[in-house]
Amino acid sequence: MNWQEEYKKRLCTAEEAVKHIKDNDRVVITHACGESLILTDAMVADAERLHNVEIVHMVAMGKGEYCKPEYNGHFRHNSLFVGGPTREHVNSGAGDFTPVFFSEIPSLFDTTLPVDVVLLQVSPPDEHGYCSFGISVDYTKHAAEVAKCVIAQVNKNMPRTLGDSFIHVTDIDYIVEADTDVIELKPGAIGDVERAIGENCASLIKDGDTLQLGIGAIPDAVLLFLKEKHDLGIHSEMFSDGVVELVEAGVITNKKKTLHPGKSVVTFLMGTRRLYDYANNNPEVEMYPVDYVNNPVVIAQNDNMVSINSCVQVDLMGQVVSTCVGPKQISGVGGQVDFVRGANMSKGGRSIMAMPSTAGKGKVSKIVPIIDEGAAVTTSRYDVRYVVTEYGIADLWGKTLRQRARELIKIAHPDFRPGLIEAFEAKFHEKY
Ligand code: COA
Repeated sequence: MNWQEEYKKRLCTAEEAVKHIKDNDRVVITHACGESLILTDAMVADAERLHNVEIVHMVAMGKGEYCKPEYNGHFRHNSLFVGGPTREHVNSGAGDFTPVFFSEIPSLFDTTLPVDVVLLQVSPPDEHGYCSFGISVDYTKHAAEVAKCVIAQVNKNMPRTLGDSFIHVTDIDYIVEADTDVIELKPGAIGDVERAIGENCASLIKDGDTLQLGIGAIPDAVLLFLKEKHDLGIHSEMFSDGVVELVEAGVITNKKKTLHPGKSVVTFLMGTRRLYDYANNNPEVEMYPVDYVNNPVVIAQNDNMVSINSCVQVDLMGQVVSTCVGPKQISGVGGQVDFVRGANMSKGGRSIMAMPSTAGKGKVSKIVPIIDEGAAVTTSRYDVRYVVTEYGIADLWGKTLRQRARELIKIAHPDFRPGLIEAFEAKFHEKY
C-alpha cells in the first residue's frame, strides 16, 4: 500500500470535513490543549445545518462556543470535566455533566457513549505513514479507534510524541492540513501561600520517588522546592513546563522507577511551546492512553509513588470535595481518585491533597465541619492520607475521626480555628 497516495485522497478543507457530521451524531473533541480549533470552529460555523449533535469533551481549553445559547438545539454538550468555557452551560441546565474517572473514559466509548465522529489534531506522518497524537493521547486515541468517522487536522506544530501514541493515515477518513499554533497554557502566578504549600509538600517527597502532579500553581510551587532532590521520576496523567526545568537540572532522571525506568510516563501535556519542543521526538517521554496511565493497578507498580492533587473543601472527617462549590459543578474528578488510589497501593507510596487553607480572598475556610449542602464527595475519607495547607501537614492515615479532626484543625487558617474547635467540642464532647 502506498500510504502517500492514501493520504492525498483524504485531503480536504475543514469546512468540507465537518460536512460529514450528521444530525444526532455524538462528536468527541480531543482533550485539553490537543483540540483542533479549526475543526471545532468549522463545526460551529456549520451549526445551522446540524441538529441535536452531542459534543463530548473533557477539559475544554478552546473557545467552547458550542455551549453558547444560540446553538441550543444544534449542539448539546456532555461534559466530562466542567471548565471555564463550559461551566455556565452545564450549571444553567443547558448542558450535561457525566461523572467518570479519567481512566474509564475509553471504556465509555465502548459502552454507553459510542462515538460517531472524532475531531483530532495530529503531527504530520513519519516515513511509515504514522501520525502522532502529540500532546493528547488520553481518551483521544481510543475515540479514534472506535469512531465511525475520523477527522484530523495534520499540524507541523503538533509535537511527535512517542509511546503508544500513533495513528496510521489510512485510519483517518478526512485530513485537513493546517500549521496553526497549538493551544498553550501559561504557568500560573505563584504567591506566598502556594510557596508555603509547595514547601510543605516537598518535605513529604524523598529522593527516588515517582510523582504525579496536577495542574496549576500548587504543583508548580511544589516543583520549586524539589531542586535539591535526586533521581525523581514521573508517572502522571499530565505535566507542564515545570517538569522540563527539573529534567534539565538533573533532578528528574526516572532512574529509580520500577515501571518504565528512564521514561516520564504521561497521557497528556499542557504547557507552553517550551514543553512541546521538549516532548517532540524525545525518547525520555512516553505517552500512553489514559486507561493505562491512570489505571490504579498500573500506577501502583511504581514503588514510592507520590500523588499531589488539589481540592475545594475538606471536612473534619477527611472527606474531600474537588469538583463542586456547593451544588455548582466547577470541574471534574479527572485523575484525582485514580492517582490517590494508585499511590496508596504503591509500595512506599503516599497520596497528598494540597490546598490553600481559605478561598474567596480569605473569606471562607476550605476546612469545614460539614461539607456544603449539594456538594459531592470526590475522594472519600477512606482514601485520603495527607492533607497539606500553607499551615502544615495533616496525616489522616489510620487515624480516628477525633484524631483526624485535630490534625485538620491544626492546618486550618487561624481565623477559622475557633469555629472548627467549637464544632469539634460539640461532636466529641471533649475540650480541644
Ligand atoms: N468555597 C467557595 N468557593 C471556593 C472554594 C470553597 N471552599 N474553593 C474554591 N472555590 C472557588 C474559588 O474561589 C474559585 O472561584 P472563582 O473561579 O470565581 O475565582 C473556584 O472555586 C476555583 O477555585 P481555585 O482554587 O481557583 O481552583 P484551582 O484552579 O486551584 O483548582 C480544583 C482547584 C480543586 C478545582 C482543581 O484542582 C480540580 O479540578 N481538581 C480535581 C481534578 C484533579 O485533581 N485532577 C487531577 C490532576 S489534573
